[in-house]
Amino acid sequence: MNNENVIRNYELFDDNTIDNTIRPESIEEYIGQTDVKENIKVFVEAAKMRNESLDHVLLYGPPGLGKTTLAFIIAHELGTNIKTASGPSIEKSGDLAAILSSLEPGDVLFIDEIHRMPRYIEEILYPAMEDFSLDIIVGSDGNSRNIKIDLPPFTLVGATTRAGDLSAPLRDRFGIINKLQFYTVEELTDIVKRTARVLDSPIDDEAAVELAKRSRGTPRIANRLFKRVRDFAMVKGNGRIDLKITENALDRLKVDKMGLDNTDRELLLSIINKFNGGPVGIEAISSTIGEEVTTIEDVYEPYLLQMGLLKRTARGRVVTDKAYEVLGIEKINKK
Ligand SMILES: Nc1ncnc2c1ncn2[C@@H]1O[C@H](COP(=O)(O)OP(=O)(O)O)[C@@H](O)[C@H]1O
Ligand SMILES: [Mg+2]
Repeated sequence: MNNENVIRNYELFDDNTIDNTIRPESIEEYIGQTDVKENIKVFVEAAKMRNESLDHVLLYGPPGLGKTTLAFIIAHELGTNIKTASGPSIEKSGDLAAILSSLEPGDVLFIDEIHRMPRYIEEILYPAMEDFSLDIIVGSDGNSRNIKIDLPPFTLVGATTRAGDLSAPLRDRFGIINKLQFYTVEELTDIVKRTARVLDSPIDDEAAVELAKRSRGTPRIANRLFKRVRDFAMVKGNGRIDLKITENALDRLKVDKMGLDNTDRELLLSIINKFNGGPVGIEAISSTIGEEVTTIEDVYEPYLLQMGLLKRTARGRVVTDKAYEVLGIEKINKK
């Protein structure tokens, strides 16, 4: 694989150069997501044995769970190049046509936030995905005609936080659809330890576990918190990342024992205080805490639902008894 290409492409997604060094490159280094990983290994192997391109892959799940990382790993395992684009950045059909016609046989085309691609552009993808052909209109007005260009076989890897927003015809064209799950504390502990190794800043075992517990099941958060804890250890301690400095740093960062941050708590508290625990519509929550509906749905809610702190009902969001307990609030007006 062309390494320069990979490095350049990484920069499109992470402005922080550290992130590039800690991102696992091969599937063996990718921790957790066992089912997804095992399946992808088989499909990649089979595609290689048949000397065909891998079927198109859709990866979905909350931000920071490793969708982009996995897209790059797929290309790495296939031994091909990866070209990247993101849904909102493809504005004209010509943009997509240009990317598609630059592909080489077997290449991976990664489209991040694929649900945000305009529909008229999406339609160009249908024949490209199905028959590896590009149907474009050349010329203008009275003098236009359709031409069909053959594309090399390629693999589209699409990533999205909202699989539900994908149109049915697009979704149906993915042969492999994988949902990424929140990581367990054990898996996140391994991720933290791996990051510590890569960055050459050793961390004590109990400290790694504590960090993992407070990372909302999300590798990106685990890595981010690790970097902040490392800063505290350097400045406030002797550089050693132990349990005490970790707890201290995380408390200061207002990340609680369950990994909830300020916004998580604000969200739950606003439902409790302003809406008597719910049910309440997402729009009302959004205007109360000043976060976009999509941000709440994509970033905050999934973890709160997973932890059983919040419930979605037909009549709106409801805070659970567990949330009251965790927040140390007595539930009044029990319904
Ligand atoms: N399975 C994993 N094992 C180790 N590190 C991971 C894993 N998944 C994600 N990461 C780390 O978390 C960061 C965020 O992952 P990313 O692929 O950018 O998430 P997404 O694209 O789903 O938002 C990456 O920089 C990577 O270092
Ligand atoms: Mg990503």
